Amino acid sequence: MYSSDNCSSAGAPTSQWDVERLVQSARKAKENASVPLSRFRVGAAVLTSSGKIFEGCNTESLIPVLGVCAERNAINHALIHGERDFLAVAVASDLYSPLLPCGTCLQYIQEFARQQGRNMLIIAEGRSGDRVITSLEELFRGGFPPETSVKEIQESFRWTAE
Ligand code: THU
Repeated sequence: MYSSDNCSSAGAPTSQWDVERLVQSARKAKENASVPLSRFRVGAAVLTSSGKIFEGCNTESLIPVLGVCAERNAINHALIHGERDFLAVAVASDLYSPLLPCGTCLQYIQEFARQQGRNMLIIAEGRSGDRVITSLEELFRGGFPPETSVKEIQESFRWTAE
């Protein structure tokens, strides 16, 4: 866990100023949550190596499986703009205490962090204002081993076209 002025995790040095901006963006994105099912709002924001911030909110459908978490929507927002090198993710939700990204989002985030050989800072803020500052590697020890190649994964899918 990191809670000092100088937040950093291996490969992802991030200033306190970046963290404040990022959390503020996540809080703002939460206001746009589209949550007809749960009524539970989540906002997320990712900081890229070029210093840009991309926000996402959770989006739900009357068909529950179509819902997407705020974190993955924030990553996808960045991808749409050609950015895929992420330093940090902030999450703000309606929960009183800080809500950290779920397992599926950690898997998704890890795939991009691995492409860049990075760890990433993860910051969660609750409605109480309390924060948890941690890192991707601290939260998620699963997923494909880092040395796994895309080719190896593709070859293990029997249905992959030649
Ligand atoms: N949700 C997120 O957006 N991020 C998380 O980290 C956990 C949960 C969303 C999914 C769903 O729209 C709602 O919160 C309730 O689970």
